[in-house]
Amino acid sequence: AHLHKEAQKAGLMYFGAATDTPGQRERAGKEEAYPRYDRILADNKMFGQTTPTNGQKWLFTEPEQGLFNYTEGDITTDLAREQGKILRCHALVWHSQLAPWVEEATWTAENLTAAITSHVEHVAGHWKGQCYAWDVVNEALEEDGSWRESVFYKVLGDEYIKLAFRLAAEIDPDAKLYYNDYNIERPGPKVDGVIRLVKMLQDEGIRIDGVGMQAHFTASEAPTLDEQIAAIESYAETGVEVALTELDVRIPVPYTDEDLAQQKEDYTNAVGACVQVPACIGVTLWDFYDPFSWVPDFFPGEGAALLWFDDFKKHPAYHGVMYAL
Ligand code: XIL
Repeated sequence: AHLHKEAQKAGLMYFGAATDTPGQRERAGKEEAYPRYDRILADNKMFGQTTPTNGQKWLFTEPEQGLFNYTEGDITTDLAREQGKILRCHALVWHSQLAPWVEEATWTAENLTAAITSHVEHVAGHWKGQCYAWDVVNEALEEDGSWRESVFYKVLGDEYIKLAFRLAAEIDPDAKLYYNDYNIERPGPKVDGVIRLVKMLQDEGIRIDGVGMQAHFTASEAPTLDEQIAAIESYAETGVEVALTELDVRIPVPYTDEDLAQQKEDYTNAVGACVQVPACIGVTLWDFYDPFSWVPDFFPGEGAALLWFDDFKKHPAYHGVMYAL
């Protein structure tokens, strides 16, 4: 049985995996694994959707002001087109992996508005018509639900969010426009912040179509099935759709059988919640092969967060996902 095929039978639009370009994967030092990796990714019964992990971010697409580069992003978006996969595009306005010039400049409101406008026009324009969805704004909230003090917020306040969504709607009318964030998978102040953001846009007549729950989890600290259902339903009440956009469940390394069993339960709950709420339309893993995961680099002592081990054996959690589908 295959993930995407089973997900469709369970009523989801897709089950997918984000992927990075060979250039970005290099640090894993696993060149010999590429052919096998590429075959699994290419199997549309397994993965019906993909997202470029890095190539569409500001750092890559506009490394210097007015200098646009789509090379890295195109590798994954071309692959999606050639293989007939649904494409999620990621991310137009984000405080992280931002080109240094954006952080270094002294901005007036007017100049920063112009810089954001130019960025969104070029980047969303380049991939116009190809993205099922765009993560228009990524991670604009603090844990307590207040606005993150990013360079964008400091100069423009919440206007930058309205600006980004307005522009994206204008430039790529067929793409679903998402707000995407982490730690928004169980009810609490940050979930309330997301709902406030959605309503802020709706009150201004600005289109927002979806909320992306990144779903980067730590095994045993992941939200329960009921918590995730409640969070998804609270977004759905505002009229938007929901997706799990970056699912992974990290465990300590070296791991034990108990860690793998806990991870299986957490994956089962995450996918199960999405299947059980009609507003949740799909699930994306943040890559599928452990050596290409971002987790070991960002969370020292943790890893093995995906569904395929180094030797391409499947995690027990793979069967947990199947059970949920
Ligand atoms: C991560 C990538 O996987 C890494 O390769 C990169 O070095 C840093 O970013 N939230 C997001 C993603 O929205 O873009 C991040 O991806 C993970 C956290």
